[in-house]
Amino acid sequence: APSVLFDNHGRPLEYLRLAVTDRCNLRCFYCMPEEGIKYMPKQELLTYEEMERLVAIMAGLGVRKVRLTGGEPFVRRDLVPFMSRLSEIPGIEELTMTTNGVLTAPHVPELARMGVKAVNLSLDTMDRARFTSITRRDELPRVMETFYALLAAGIRVKINAVVMDGQNTQDILPLAELTRDLPVDVRFIEEMPFNGGSHAATLPWNHVRIREHLELNLGTLEPVVSRPGDTASHYTVAGHQGRVGIIAAYSRTFCGTCNRIRLTAEGGLKTCLYDQGVLDIRALLRGGSSDADIVAALTSAFRNRAADGFEAERQRPLHQLSFESMSTIGG
Ligand code: GTP
Ligand code: 5AD
Ligand code: SF4
Repeated sequence: APSVLFDNHGRPLEYLRLAVTDRCNLRCFYCMPEEGIKYMPKQELLTYEEMERLVAIMAGLGVRKVRLTGGEPFVRRDLVPFMSRLSEIPGIEELTMTTNGVLTAPHVPELARMGVKAVNLSLDTMDRARFTSITRRDELPRVMETFYALLAAGIRVKINAVVMDGQNTQDILPLAELTRDLPVDVRFIEEMPFNGGSHAATLPWNHVRIREHLELNLGTLEPVVSRPGDTASHYTVAGHQGRVGIIAAYSRTFCGTCNRIRLTAEGGLKTCLYDQGVLDIRALLRGGSSDADIVAALTSAFRNRAADGFEAERQRPLHQLSFESMSTIGG
């Protein structure tokens, strides 16, 4: 059994978010400028072999859930065989991903075969014109195809919808309505002011307003008890098969039980979404560090975590958060 690693605030390390690429085939305006971001040269990305070694090391430290993020994971070549190898690493009980769904549908049967039980699908609107204006690509049909392919394969789907004032608030109810007849979680996310996002001091659509809007239109939301480390508050709606959820990503109400770390595509370790990167793991890997050296470095980084996203943000040099793209951090 792995020795579980606890941080300086008593929170266990259980969950790794692994960004496999910084590239993306969409251009969501809240994430990237139209021209895209300056992508990293390939040799700066961790190789699959390097990632497999790290995941095995982290499994020994208690990590049992790995979520692949990006960029868009499927933009990276040979992703599926890589996932299949990850799924065999002892200790990794849950392998999952967050995808925009553009390239995903053809791979769904393989995902099911390797035991992927759940996938998070980014979808901010089901209106084709608004989808195209938010993502700057006319790809809604392929995303919907992925959605139905996942359902048909028996893979649990959580839809992630970023709520943007003046952009897609009219889409909240149609998305929530999916839960009426489908066993799907639809989660509404507070917009975070990254790259191109609004930098207003207050968020017009915060978690409180999203909840009120849902209750006014769907009736009472019954809270589901959440597990430690969950970002979303989930709710059941009478008569609905699926659940709605709200992720207070901007208000950061869930930091107290945060059980996750992040690896950026170039091998930077983050112990919080909001920190500037606390350890260059790529340098260790490529400098010949032993597994024991890497365990020691990870352990010391995780035992020196900020208490919450606000503290992590204050510790950053120059408060440069807004210059980073979610595509590099992996969300
Ligand atoms: P589950 O594993 O299904 O709970 O998913 P998740 O919420 O951990 O991950 P997902 O990739 O679906 O992200 C959903 C939203 O939550 C995105 O907007 C993320 O940026 C945001 N998010 C994920 N982790 C964190 C975090 O540690 N802090 C904050 N503030 N937001 C986060
Ligand atoms: N605010 C909130 N969520 C965001 N995501 C990307 N950028 C932002 C942002 N600025 C979401 C994506 C995806 C997840 C990984 O992060 O929609 O579902
Ligand atoms: Fe791509 Fe996700 Fe960024 Fe949209 S939010 S551009 S899908 S990485």
